[in-house]
Amino acid sequence: MLGHWYIACRSSQLGRQPLARTILDEPLAVFRETSGRAAAVADRCPHRHLALSRGRVTDKGLRCAYHGWTWDAEGRCTDIPASCATAESYSRLKVAAKPVKEAQGFIWVWMGAGEPEREPLEFPRFNHDGWHHWVMERVFEGSGFNCVENFLDVPHTAHVHRGLFRGDESHEIEIEITSGEDWIQAEFVNEKRMDSIIGKLLVPADAKILHTDRFQLPYVTRVDYRMTDTRQYIVMSQCTPESSDRTRVFTYMAYRFSPFGPLVRLVFDPLSRLILDQDVKVIAQQTADIKRTGPPRFLYWETDAIARGIRDLLDGKSLAGRAPERKSLRA
Ligand code: FES
Ligand SMILES: [Fe+2]
Repeated sequence: MLGHWYIACRSSQLGRQPLARTILDEPLAVFRETSGRAAAVADRCPHRHLALSRGRVTDKGLRCAYHGWTWDAEGRCTDIPASCATAESYSRLKVAAKPVKEAQGFIWVWMGAGEPEREPLEFPRFNHDGWHHWVMERVFEGSGFNCVENFLDVPHTAHVHRGLFRGDESHEIEIEITSGEDWIQAEFVNEKRMDSIIGKLLVPADAKILHTDRFQLPYVTRVDYRMTDTRQYIVMSQCTPESSDRTRVFTYMAYRFSPFGPLVRLVFDPLSRLILDQDVKVIAQQTADIKRTGPPRFLYWETDAIARGIRDLLDGKSLAGRAPERKSLRA
């Protein structure tokens, strides 16, 4: 889906070494100029097509590892070391360059024609008083849709994450679904503490849970759990599809948990990693199985809550004006 910002990598991953990244099937060399500015250019030297990500950063820009031709953040050629010609003559040589922004600890690349029409996504509660956050990164062998659907799907948690996130005990939960031009959201009305390790560790027994799952274009998911005023969790993933069956996912985990504060991460972090690993595994299996059995023709059921709406949004349909819906499921 073009016309959006995608995360290429975390700021901390981009040092002196360029990185090879693929976003929406476009191979990119992501690098940091010596001035500190982040940049992304096509990962193919226009001279003999060695990947520019094999090169190194110099004061003049990204220097190709083969013959040393060098490219700046705008994609202009700034040096051909063996050439006797003037710099002016080769400055008209270009490699395609992308608009890049660095914000909230991520390097964002604008994928689409022309200049960016909006700002990159903002992660909520970033460095807010009383809030803590950390980021996890995983490469899923699966499509962007299969990933975002999974991140916002409740029923699989009792199977793929059995005992960890949800357990045997279940009850009927009502869901209110609302949507807009480029988003869809499910609000779970009468959810109770989950019968699982996470439920017991992190949710007070009598808590009245407010839980919402939200999808937003291009491939952003946000899950909010609010137990009490001082116990809240936000899990937000920005998915960067690399190809039709490979997606790089950056998951931002923010929480507020009085009175234990940052200590909660000692429990929450390893459990979250375990849960992510289980999803990585099932998505890779799903992708391999679809390859073996033929193109997807998915069935959608009431229990899929907002999956059909997500599919519609990714297929370019606006959900503005769609009436709110009520569904229910056992979880
Ligand atoms: S291939 Fe890059 S300089 Fe020749
Ligand atoms: Fe999951």
